[in-house]
Amino acid sequence: MRSPSRLVIIGIMALLAFCAGWYILATPGRKPVVISVYEPPIISVEDRVRDIGQVPTDSKERTSFLLYNIGGQHLRITAVDTSCGCTVADVSKKVVAPGDFTRIRVELDTSLKLGKLRKTITVHSNDPKRPDLPLFVVGEVLPKPMEGHARINLQPRDRLALFKGDCAKCHANAGKGKSGKALFLADCAMCHGVNAMGNHSAGPSLLGGDYENEAYHAQMRRVIANGSPKSPQMPPFSQKDGGPLNDDQMDSLVGFLKFQSFQQRMGLLNKPDSAELEDETVFQDALKEPH
Ligand code: HEC
Ligand code: HEC
Repeated sequence: MRSPSRLVIIGIMALLAFCAGWYILATPGRKPVVISVYEPPIISVEDRVRDIGQVPTDSKERTSFLLYNIGGQHLRITAVDTSCGCTVADVSKKVVAPGDFTRIRVELDTSLKLGKLRKTITVHSNDPKRPDLPLFVVGEVLPKPMEGHARINLQPRDRLALFKGDCAKCHANAGKGKSGKALFLADCAMCHGVNAMGNHSAGPSLLGGDYENEAYHAQMRRVIANGSPKSPQMPPFSQKDGGPLNDDQMDSLVGFLKFQSFQQRMGLLNKPDSAELEDETVFQDALKEPH
């Protein structure tokens, strides 16, 4: 009478062991990593696409990636490249032993970009299968809500009021030392909108004209420098006329407007920059194969 019950117990135990084994192998987080010393270095990432969500402009956003070496030999990180506006602050370890990991810290300056954001960070290593591994930071940069005031109508005699005393705090100081888009966001966006597409009654859209046309280009440059001949609401920004900007800064603004109007015509405003979209297929692959 003893042997049948013993068989039943053995049977149940075998079934339990089978179920446990199957569960471990089928659950990605629990799968044991077997490191073989005969294997080359293998780079593996927790998460190739890091979504930082909605972040304010003019801030420094930090994020990091954990890279594991699941191969059998030492992994050497030879270089880390980034698309512009995004810097690698720190790689905790350049040589990663089998089974060990390293952390890549990334810092992002959001003053350079509004709207959808995608930055690529490429890790170069001695993993023979993936010598260049692209990682991505995605998110959306939102304009800082700007504290405004009741409408002010400037008189022709106080066209420089914006740049004086308390007014300068919001209307001129933030643009010091900046150029291009960052300067536009600091000094012009409150009246012309963050994308230069206009802000209600404060200022018109600046993207309607043809910046390829030299006469138009020069006229816009003149209005920025000397103010609008028609309205004191658009003050003279040139230092020669008592404003805060030098020639290079004003040139960079016209350059930005030209680029922005091109972007609008192509329907690209508020999409990731074309440089960021360059490796679209690589990005799609990273979404499909996150590790
Ligand atoms: C706290 C920041 C801040 C200060 C200080 C400030 N402004 Fe403004 N200003 C803005 C913003 C933001 C706008 C955009 C319109 C809005 O949202 O109210 C604006 C718009 C304007 C306009 C466009 C027309 C309008 O009123 O909408 C004028 C002119 C103007 N400001 C003049 C001045 C003058 C003159 C002073 C100083 C007495 C001043 N501002 C101080 C933030 C400021
Ligand atoms: C206080 C609000 C205010 C600020 C700040 C401001 N603008 Fe203006 N801007 C205006 C208004 C209003 C007009 C329209 C004036 C007119 O009717 O001629 C204008 C006109 C212009 C024009 C001419 C547009 C056209 O089609 O003729 C340009 C170019 C321009 N602004 C660029 C800038 C740039 C660049 C900055 C930042 C350095 C800036 N503006 C800052 C209010 C502002």
